[in-house]
Amino acid sequence: MTERVVVNDVGPRDGLQNQSRVLSPGQRLQLIQALLNAGVSHIEVGSFVSPKAVPAMADTDQVVAGLPVGAATYSALVPNQKGYQLARDAGVSIVELVVASTDTMNLKNINTSTAQAMANVAEIAGLAQADGIRAMCYLATAWECPFEGPVPQANAMALMQQMFDAGIEEVVIADTIGAADPAGVRRLTAEAAEVFGVQRLSCHFHDTRGMGVANVAAALESGIRKFDGSIGGLGGCPFAPGATGNVATEDVVLMLHQMGFDTGIDLGKLVAAVELAVELTGNCDGGSSINWLRRQVEKGVL
Ligand code: COA
Ligand code: ZN
Repeated sequence: MTERVVVNDVGPRDGLQNQSRVLSPGQRLQLIQALLNAGVSHIEVGSFVSPKAVPAMADTDQVVAGLPVGAATYSALVPNQKGYQLARDAGVSIVELVVASTDTMNLKNINTSTAQAMANVAEIAGLAQADGIRAMCYLATAWECPFEGPVPQANAMALMQQMFDAGIEEVVIADTIGAADPAGVRRLTAEAAEVFGVQRLSCHFHDTRGMGVANVAAALESGIRKFDGSIGGLGGCPFAPGATGNVATEDVVLMLHQMGFDTGIDLGKLVAAVELAVELTGNCDGGSSINWLRRQVEKGVL
C-alpha cells in the first residue's frame, strides 16, 4: 500500500481572489467540477469576505449552493464573525479562519491586531463547535511577513499553540508570500509535528521564488501529509505585496506520485482542469511542469 497524501486545491479561493477577471458563480463551479473530475478530494471553494475588499469572492453562497454533495471535502475561508454567520447560513461544513504572524499583516488583511484576531478565532471556534462545523485556522506569513520581515520560530509556534488552545482542529502553516526555503520549512514543521502531531497540521506554499515544491518536500520529511496547491499555480494575496501564485497543484501531485505517494488524483484529468483555469482566467500559465505534463497527455501516457 502506498502512503496517501491529501492535496487540497485552493484555486477557487486563493487562486481566484486576486484575478482581475471576476468569474461568475457558474464559472467558479465549472472549475470546481474539473477538479472533482480529476479526483481532487479537498477543495477550498471560496471565502465569505467583504465583496468591496475582494470582488472576486462575492456570491460564494451561490457557489456553495451549487456544489455536488458528498463529492469532496469542501471548505471556505471566513475572516470574522460576519463571515462565519454567512458561511454557516450557506451550509458550509468546514470554515477556515486566518491569523497572520504579525500585527501589521493582520491589520492589512483583516483589520485587527494579532491579539484581537486570536480572540475572534476563539469565539468563532466556540460557535462552530456548537453548530457542528469544523474550524481550521491558517497561520499566514508563518516564515516571513512582507512588512515586518522574518518571523521568529518561537512566535509561529506560540500562535499555533493559541489556535489549538482555542479549539481549532487543524492548523495550516502558510507561506503567504512564498519567501520560505526548505531549511526553514524543515525546522518549523519538524518542531510543529513534534509538539502538535502531524495529523493536525497542513502546509500552504506560494511559488514566488520557485521553491514551492522544494518546500513541500521539506515538510514531507517532517511527516506532514496534507498540502494546499492551486490549480495552474493561480494565486496571490491582494493584501500581501509581492505574493505571486500558489505552488501549482499539478506540480505537487506530479512530485508526490514520482516519490511514490498516492493522492487519488488523475494527472491527465488535472491537466484538463489547468486548461480550464487558463481559459476562464486568461491569466494562468500553469505550473513549472505543465508543458511536460501536456506532452504526456498528447502521447497518451497520462
Ligand atoms: N463578509 C461580507 N461583508 C463583510 C464581512 C464579511 N465577512 N465583514 C465585513 N463586511 C462588510 C460590512 O458589512 C461593512 O459593509 P458596509 O460598508 O456596506 O457597511 C464593511 O464590510 C466594513 O465592515 P467592518 O466590520 O468595519 O469591517 P472591516 O473594515 O474591519 O474589514 C474585513 C472587514 C477585513 C473582513 C474585510 O475587509 C474583508 O473581507 N477583507 C478581505 C480579507 C481577505 O479575503 N483576505 C485574503 C484571504 S486571507
Ligand atoms: Zn495563499
